Amino acid sequence: MLIAEQNDLTNHWYQRATVRHTPRIIVPDYSDEELIYPLARCAVCDHPMILARGQATRAFILAQAAYQFLYGVGLLETKFVIQCSLALLHHEIPGIDEFARLQALTVVIDEGYHAHVALDYIIQMQARSGIVPLQVPQSNHKLDAAARASATLPEAMRADFQLLAVTLAENVLTDEIANLGRDKGLAQTFTTLMMDHVRDEGRHSNYFADLMKARWAHMPQATRDRFTAMLPDYLDDFLGTDPSRSFERKILRACEFSPAETERIIDETQGEFQALHDQLTAKTKIRLDRLLRQIGVPDPANADSAAALDAAV
Ligand SMILES: [Fe+2]
Ligand SMILES: [Fe+2]
Repeated sequence: MLIAEQNDLTNHWYQRATVRHTPRIIVPDYSDEELIYPLARCAVCDHPMILARGQATRAFILAQAAYQFLYGVGLLETKFVIQCSLALLHHEIPGIDEFARLQALTVVIDEGYHAHVALDYIIQMQARSGIVPLQVPQSNHKLDAAARASATLPEAMRADFQLLAVTLAENVLTDEIANLGRDKGLAQTFTTLMMDHVRDEGRHSNYFADLMKARWAHMPQATRDRFTAMLPDYLDDFLGTDPSRSFERKILRACEFSPAETERIIDETQGEFQALHDQLTAKTKIRLDRLLRQIGVPDPANADSAAALDAAV
């Protein structure tokens, strides 16, 4: 990269990074009328038994969903993206020049700040609303999926897999928070939280995608083949959801629905839950496929036929 381009990128971070320029987000007085999380992402919220309970129950469910989302974002940032950025900084992944190390430091700073903003928001929201998070997760489905996939690989391939997995995760996260930020019906502070965050994430997505593209071209062929073969299953796992819907059950029980009522609500919203998940996953996969082709990862379907052709010759 040219010195002038490097300078532009560094200036851009100094001028635009939210950690340097955004004021603290103050959660205003709580109202259960205001939506803190999209109803469309909460399959149980439109069930007649929930609606019959009134606004407070719906607001409680949405607050719990928002807490889980924010905790999940914080985990991804502090346990996954920062970890990978530190690996880049400390040359655990080959081919990282001094400017890429400098950028890795901006990601560490940004992500630490985002995690701080998210936790600050949760704490304020809890104080204003009196709604206590039902659980403070130590991991989530996405992190577990990445750890499962990494564990199947030889040690020598894990650093490269971490970079690939973070590149994909940053792309997914950017889209997710951009969509939430665009949702016009949500509380203003939640929208601001998402839009501030998105300003940094676009830069991160490009950084990791460019690095991964450069690295892909220099990775051993055996590593490329292994990643190409494992990606479809990995993406299914990474983008998957908890089919048992255990957290929704927990929320419903906390709303004092009986076990039988809880099961009924879960059963009767299963179609909507699955449809919502399938719709989000299908869109995300199309975007990730495009990103993978840009990086240089072959389409697994074509890779299979190319391998068959090679074997036949
Ligand atoms: Fe972030
Ligand atoms: Fe990021």
